[in-house]
Amino acid sequence: MSDSEKNKFVPKTWPRKLRSTEWFGGTSRDHIYHRSWMKNQGLPADLFDGRPVIGICNTWSQLTPCNAHLRDLADRVKHGIYEAGGLPLEFPVFSVGESSLRPTAMMYRNMAAMDVEEALRANPLDGVVLLAGCDKTTPALLMGACSVDIPAIVVSGGPMLNGYFRGERVASGTALWQMSEDIKAGKMTQEDFLEAEQSMSRSAGSCNTMGTASTMASMAEALGMALSGNAAIPAVDSRRRVMAHLTGRRIVDMVKDDLKPSDILTRQAFENAIRVNGAIGGSTNAVIHLLAIAGRVGVDLTLDDWDKLGQEIATIVNLMPSGKYLMEEFFYAGGLPVVIKHLAEAGKLHKNAITVSGESIWEEVKEVRNWNPDVILPVEKALTQKGGIVVLKGNLAPQGAVLKPSAASAHLLQHRGRAVVFEDIDDYKAKINDEALDIDENCVMVLKNCGPKGYPGMAEVGNMGLPPKVLRKGIKDMVRISDARMSGTAYGTVVLHTTPEAAAGGPLAVIQNGDMIELDVEKRRLHVDISDEEMASRLANWKSHLEPPKSGYIKLFHDHVQGADTGADFDFLKGCRGAAVPKDSH
Ligand code: FES
Repeated sequence: MSDSEKNKFVPKTWPRKLRSTEWFGGTSRDHIYHRSWMKNQGLPADLFDGRPVIGICNTWSQLTPCNAHLRDLADRVKHGIYEAGGLPLEFPVFSVGESSLRPTAMMYRNMAAMDVEEALRANPLDGVVLLAGCDKTTPALLMGACSVDIPAIVVSGGPMLNGYFRGERVASGTALWQMSEDIKAGKMTQEDFLEAEQSMSRSAGSCNTMGTASTMASMAEALGMALSGNAAIPAVDSRRRVMAHLTGRRIVDMVKDDLKPSDILTRQAFENAIRVNGAIGGSTNAVIHLLAIAGRVGVDLTLDDWDKLGQEIATIVNLMPSGKYLMEEFFYAGGLPVVIKHLAEAGKLHKNAITVSGESIWEEVKEVRNWNPDVILPVEKALTQKGGIVVLKGNLAPQGAVLKPSAASAHLLQHRGRAVVFEDIDDYKAKINDEALDIDENCVMVLKNCGPKGYPGMAEVGNMGLPPKVLRKGIKDMVRISDARMSGTAYGTVVLHTTPEAAAGGPLAVIQNGDMIELDVEKRRLHVDISDEEMASRLANWKSHLEPPKSGYIKLFHDHVQGADTGADFDFLKGCRGAAVPKDSH
């Protein structure tokens, strides 16, 4: 694979005047005002001598349990910044917690990104450390930082340790979905379920599967936006604190060199990340988030790139939900650097893509070793030889839909079945447990109005649970289609992100009970067996039953969110607006 000369980064000369000197570097009334108030925190005068001022953008919150340990990590980052001669200033941003936010955390990703962007631009900052953990926090922070384009580096909170219940590994989320299905199938009691609850979250940290949080931490590393090895270190391992400390040191030098997100996040970086996602069996949520991040730095990444670049990428990381192990074991096996090295040696990575270290991604990984080939598998033993996210198209999804092959059932990848339609999530909940529901395992479950505008926020409900009467037969998977997302911890033959979404009048909106639907993953086809005339007539007569929101953030979201096929960012937030210092009002 050839690498572009554009990847060469030339550091700027140091010392030079930084953006923070606009606030702190003079003797005018305004300079004194800015410095003096800062000094109420006990900061000595020489900290305002023109050294790099580094923001620590913290998504700590007790309402985001996966990020509840980030205050400690922020302190470690501060040690590193001081050591390297910078001035650290920690600040909070809206924290997007997956497990509690309603209607869905995804509705707040763009709001958090806006918070980050405005906080970075409006404040006297020369660089920023992005402290992320739970699913949406990583993309939100990256999106905001990219739109300002000052030097930025991610340090992740790290995953929870392995959970165990009665001797078996308990995978965050994955176990929850499985056990709730087991209860419906009569294979588990409610009492056992409540007991298992205690073992699901073993320690501080994010979900311990290769769910969305671990995927996005891996994407940050694969993109070159975090130090090598960042993604997999468990939250409570002392090496996580070391990583935070080293990240603090590194950002100061990045500011001196003026190494910005736009220098790192080239098209090659995104291509690398897409391939890494296939190799780790990463979450489908990465599709949306990477498209949105690319949109902020002006890289023309499309949904089709996911399909094209993910082809022939074997899933070699044996982690749940696709495989057997958890993030703790991935770390002990060598973590993401081993995967990156494997892809680079196989000629499937742009080796010269630069990272926050200032070095090429290849330089970072060339010496690493795989310490457990049962966790990071040799290619011949891969979970699947074609692990990249598949993009499906057809009259049901003219702008595309996605499916994760490593989480799907091989026997359903080519399937034709009768549609059983749920008009929205409430309709699904009202009907799914009804023994009279006309459904069997050969049917295709269709869920509408769960996309960005429809839910609103594009909830993780695409892996809708199967009907009890099917589960009782021992059936574990059926083809499911929706405009929703799916948790990265979930699994199944689940077609997601169908675009245009139902609430925007896409063809999904007019699928009816009894329509025959054809899924053919090999041919990338998602088709409903009705004529073009019939489709046109149904769409002409379609009217949404949803009331559009009238006010508040939810209205802003509804009116401006774009389709899943382009990353579900707001139309007015796409692009980089830069770091020009706003004028003073004092
Ligand atoms: Fe926060 Fe999974 S719920 S990482």
